[in-house]
Amino acid sequence: ENHFAHGQSLAGRRILVTAAGTEEALDPVRFLGNRSTGRMGFAVAAEAARRGAEVILVAGPTPLATPTGVRRVDVRSARDMHAAVRAEYDGVDAVIKAAAVADYRPAEMAEHKIKKSDGELTLKLTRNPDILYELGQQKKHQILVGFAAETQNVAEYARGKLAKKNLDFIVANNVAEQDAGFGVPTNHVQIFYADGRAEDHPLMAKAALAGVILDRLEETFQKRG
Ligand code: CTP
Ligand code: CA
Repeated sequence: ENHFAHGQSLAGRRILVTAAGTEEALDPVRFLGNRSTGRMGFAVAAEAARRGAEVILVAGPTPLATPTGVRRVDVRSARDMHAAVRAEYDGVDAVIKAAAVADYRPAEMAEHKIKKSDGELTLKLTRNPDILYELGQQKKHQILVGFAAETQNVAEYARGKLAKKNLDFIVANNVAEQDAGFGVPTNHVQIFYADGRAEDHPLMAKAALAGVILDRLEETFQKRG
């Protein structure tokens, strides 16, 4: 693709994108995970690089290829992602947090493979850090873009996350819909802004949605001057 197609509209910007799900180890061979494939975040990273941004892509486990011109940092667990994101935060102009971060991890990681027994197995889970919440607390010049995956009350929950995490805008999708969210190439979203505005977008390819999100990011940069 032509690198000048967008007039390098993000040249000079450093953008941190997180993508894919995290894996929370139970033992050496098992983990708790989720259905995120990383496709949305990788599409955003690819398009940001195409527009001239310096892109750091912090990615959970995924077979997706690294987009051209992107610096990729591979992580496995939410705590790994937390550390990788913290290390980059001061130096970036924006964070787009498309990753599906596990809210909980097994309280203990067994050193050896857990052997089955006849009875039930109870897992104890402990809370992971909320990475985006922490970024919101420590926000200085950075623009913060979140994602919200909901199966009900999309607007209410998404607006709650927007406020609580001190975001500039949040991209919300109803993952209960067939053509939106995890494991499909399309997405159907609403975007909610810190100033109260909301936008409905039609069903579209994740690559096209990446363009919309970056258009809105560019507008946010421009409003800041
Ligand atoms: N997020 C994060 N760290 C976490 C959990 C979520 O950075 N430990 C980020 C996600 O990357 C996403 C946003 O927060 O951009 C919203 O994630 P979501 O799972 O929809 O919301 P939660 O705040 O975790 O609330 P809940 O899962 O209870 O709906
Ligand atoms: Ca969550």
